[in-house]
Amino acid sequence: MAIDHYAQVWHNGKFIPWEDATIHVAAHVLHYASSIFEGIRCYETPQGPAIFRLKEHTDRLVNSCKIYRMEPPYSREQLAQAMVELVRVNNVRHCYLRPLIFRGVGDMGVNPFNNPIEVYILSWAWGKYLGHEALRDGVDVCVSSWQRIAPNTLPALAKAGANYMNAQLIKMEALTNGYTEGISLDTSGYVSEGSGENIFVVRGGRIFTPPLSACILPGITRDSVITLARDLGYDLTEQTLSREMLYIADEVFFTGTAAEITPIRSVDRIPVGTGKPGPITRALQESFLAIVEGRAEDRFNWLTSCRQPVAASSAGL
Ligand SMILES: Cc1ncc(COP(=O)(O)O)c(C=O)c1O
Repeated sequence: MAIDHYAQVWHNGKFIPWEDATIHVAAHVLHYASSIFEGIRCYETPQGPAIFRLKEHTDRLVNSCKIYRMEPPYSREQLAQAMVELVRVNNVRHCYLRPLIFRGVGDMGVNPFNNPIEVYILSWAWGKYLGHEALRDGVDVCVSSWQRIAPNTLPALAKAGANYMNAQLIKMEALTNGYTEGISLDTSGYVSEGSGENIFVVRGGRIFTPPLSACILPGITRDSVITLARDLGYDLTEQTLSREMLYIADEVFFTGTAAEITPIRSVDRIPVGTGKPGPITRALQESFLAIVEGRAEDRFNWLTSCRQPVAASSAGL
């Protein structure tokens, strides 16, 4: 299936056509996976397109670069501004934004230091990541036989391309066995996360989610759901979770930029609760979507408007 992409791409400070956003096969990234990226949603709201938690995504992007000793030649503010401008230039009502920073063509060999840092931002239309019915009905998932990367192998806090080879193994195994998604355990055997989502469990009216020490990506949707749940008066704890908690939970759900808040209706063919999305998942999903779609007040300041500034002439100035 082709990518439903938008016309312009931001590359090292300039806008270029999508078709021209290509690289040479000698680029370091293709051989040694030296890339950092982000996934960000820009939502359609009644006030125009608005990017969800732009600052936090930009911070994670720059922090991921720092972990890998990459220095993009743009400040956080410039990168954030570039994303707003890309939405404007492409004149879209909503989109998915993909900043990508990698080591390009220079030397060959593992040593990355002599390869230039390339910065691109792509955008495309991305619907419901886990399928159209997923948000409403929930998804069937499995626990993967692949573990999440160990803490002293690849840094889980960085959103680096290399981590997604592990994620691909988890995803492919799940799909091959008839599931929508796979959940990995960390190297101690505790619940970590989905191949591209964080995970939450509800039991006895309380909400639990694995801590950052379970080798998870520090999800920005995860952080938003923690904030939202506490604001709505729920008791939420970050703690290690054993695999069997997934089987005896009342509710389980995924969070992620692509997956948003997706209920899980079975794990390893064992129904979660009644086998239907539960009330706490529903309440959080509805509150989250109401804010990001501009139907409720943006009380946590999560949205950055991309509406074109009104031109002086049309503002009658
Ligand atoms: C491995 C992994 N975990 C969790 C997430 C969720 O993170 P976020 O909510 O920031 O998109 C993602 C998606 O980016 C991911 O790829």
